[in-house]
Amino acid sequence: MSLKNFISLSNHTNEQLLDILDLAGRIKRDDYRTQKAAGKVLGLMFFNPSLRTRTSFETGAAHLGAASTLIQPGQGTWTFENNHGVVMDGNKTEHIKEAIQVLSGYCDVLGVRAFSAMEDFEYDKNDSFLKEINNLSGVPLINLESAWEHPCQGMADWQTFRELFGNKLRKKKIVLSWAPHPNALPMAVPNTALEVAARSGADVTLACPEEMMLDDSVIANAREKAAEHGKNITISSDQQSAFNDADVIYAKSWAPSLIYSDKEKVASLRTETYGNWTITADKMSLTNNAHFMHCLPIRRNVVADDAVLDSPNAAHIQQAGNRLHAQKAILMKLWNLS
Ligand code: CP
Repeated sequence: MSLKNFISLSNHTNEQLLDILDLAGRIKRDDYRTQKAAGKVLGLMFFNPSLRTRTSFETGAAHLGAASTLIQPGQGTWTFENNHGVVMDGNKTEHIKEAIQVLSGYCDVLGVRAFSAMEDFEYDKNDSFLKEINNLSGVPLINLESAWEHPCQGMADWQTFRELFGNKLRKKKIVLSWAPHPNALPMAVPNTALEVAARSGADVTLACPEEMMLDDSVIANAREKAAEHGKNITISSDQQSAFNDADVIYAKSWAPSLIYSDKEKVASLRTETYGNWTITADKMSLTNNAHFMHCLPIRRNVVADDAVLDSPNAAHIQQAGNRLHAQKAILMKLWNLS
């Protein structure tokens, strides 16, 4: 099976995603490297910072023989305008209409990271910016984390679940737990993590304060994916009871849709009202000796305590490592190398 792009998990069946994960598993086992992609160029456009996504894609491209080029608007690259019909007499230098078409002429695949600005909920929910870039691009596009999804992270998460539990995954309980954070973070990672956990066939619990609930469409989508395995999604605002019998605690902070209308209220909920949602060793002791996961970067002793992150059950470094293997598999499918 080849890929045309990798923008949203919703474009792919479980069978297609598992085919990619099977390849990722073989790539990891064999430390697979080749020169089959020699001459190809991966363009990586980051409107927001990154450690893992940038480095794992650059490394993955190199392992396949391809080159990669970094495009950082406003940091050594011109600043980009994305509104239409505007008089560009301000500080934006180049319109994405020209920029993306030009880059498509140079690169064989484009990756784009563009977080939510948390200003227009419907714009973000529709992933409108990423879709516009896709419409302008003449080459396959990879979502490096958009306003609504982080599918590459989701594939590494799923690969990690499979490594941890093998064919017992369907009998395991994965808890996606909200956690405090000094900043209002986007919903892309939890949206995707919930979908991937549901697609994996595990028992899935979403633990979050009621005010931090993910969007109805995300819950409905996860429930649809869980139902394919005869399962449902459990939702709890009682973090401690949600942790009972858990096999994975996947921690993540996010801001709910209320952030679009009342940033001050969300700030006080995030750091004061629910500041006690930090993942601690005591809470982990309620679980079934659960593995701890987080997409990173993580704020130590805010999101999770040192004792959790430094425990032998912490799987977040393994999870980050799987970004490389899952993404090499995605590049190989995009370039028909497998
Ligand atoms: N998890 C993740 O996407 O990491 P970076 O933001 O460092 O790329």
